[in-house]
Amino acid sequence: MIEIRDKIYWTGIKDWGLRHFHGHELSTHRGSTYNSYVIKDEKTVLVDTVWDPYKEEFVRNLDKNVGLGNIDMIIINHSEPDHGGSLGLLLDSLPSKDIPVYCTKNGADIIRSHFHRDDINFQIVKTGDMINIGQYDLVFVEMQMIHWPDSMLTYVKGAGTVLSNDAFGQHYAGLSLFNDEVDSCELYEEAFKYYANILTPFSSLIKKKIEQIRALNLDIDMIAPSHGVIWRKAPLQIIDKYYQWSQDYNEGYAVIIYDTMYDATKTMAESIATGLRKQGIAYKLFDVGVTDPSDLLTEIFKAKGVVVGSCTVNSTVLRPTAGLLEEIKAHRYKGKLGAGFGSYGWSGESPKVISSWMEKSGLKIPLEPLKVKYRPDEEELGKCVEFGEAFGAAMKE
Ligand code: FEO
Repeated sequence: MIEIRDKIYWTGIKDWGLRHFHGHELSTHRGSTYNSYVIKDEKTVLVDTVWDPYKEEFVRNLDKNVGLGNIDMIIINHSEPDHGGSLGLLLDSLPSKDIPVYCTKNGADIIRSHFHRDDINFQIVKTGDMINIGQYDLVFVEMQMIHWPDSMLTYVKGAGTVLSNDAFGQHYAGLSLFNDEVDSCELYEEAFKYYANILTPFSSLIKKKIEQIRALNLDIDMIAPSHGVIWRKAPLQIIDKYYQWSQDYNEGYAVIIYDTMYDATKTMAESIATGLRKQGIAYKLFDVGVTDPSDLLTEIFKAKGVVVGSCTVNSTVLRPTAGLLEEIKAHRYKGKLGAGFGSYGWSGESPKVISSWMEKSGLKIPLEPLKVKYRPDEEELGKCVEFGEAFGAAMKE
């Protein structure tokens, strides 16, 4: 256990080898951590558990460092298996079978559905509820749909510490548990990726929740999420960043993402890039077929303009582009512009598929989609440059 604050200890797991999370949905190049905390006040409180593949190690450590018989109460801020997954084994291992488990109403419903047992002493809490554990009070704030229906945070009043669960976290197993002892570039890369991939669809809720939390005027000296490092130095920085990211965030540049069979669509992409450059718009170019999808979503999150190209196959786009378009829809971006392009042989539907899909996903589409039959010649490449220039001009409006 590592003491992170007076009477508050980290008792989590560092998962150095994790490379995919949520099945294979999210890449985690720097591993992750599952942060569980113990507060040793007059009452001994466990806040969250760890992912169930680590449940034996977790419970064993807890018994060694705290003593299972000393735990007075358990708080489950979020019941997703990476945080609530060890609860079943833990409850089975505790000498007392009536330990209270504090969570939201939705949390209790989800835990019941995960563990299929009816012997848990649930204590349902909602925003503003408070329990005294000795020197400290624990105050609960519901974080519904940030990012599950059950999510909440626990504020340790008296310690100025927010146990925020997923919010403000990162999939990052770093050199240290604290933000001031890790590479801040790595930290922000992972915090950004976490927000872009997991939290973007809930941005409007996040904005409102931050405003609600700010209105509470809490004294916050530390934010301890359930993944990655703890914000010990200037902890409010990550709340400020979340507030910024939650408001139609972009960094003004364009991404050109192409899917190609024989480089015709790639050649179009490069000429579109030339057009953007002529307009003074910075851009990044990606081959969707070889780019990590989670990293690509992070880039799209940062971009203002999203230009997507695929050649046509069987009257639609190539498979990697189809997956990308689904992700664009799911992330509910606001304030971005999109455009579709691609080469074709005989029917040529893909640029229109891309363009109309992005329009339905909430992107503004300033240009008609651009298609070129087979391989673009000089004149057609000139049209691609013009397309890039026109898109760049629209981005500047
Ligand atoms: Fe880290 Fe929503 O679980």
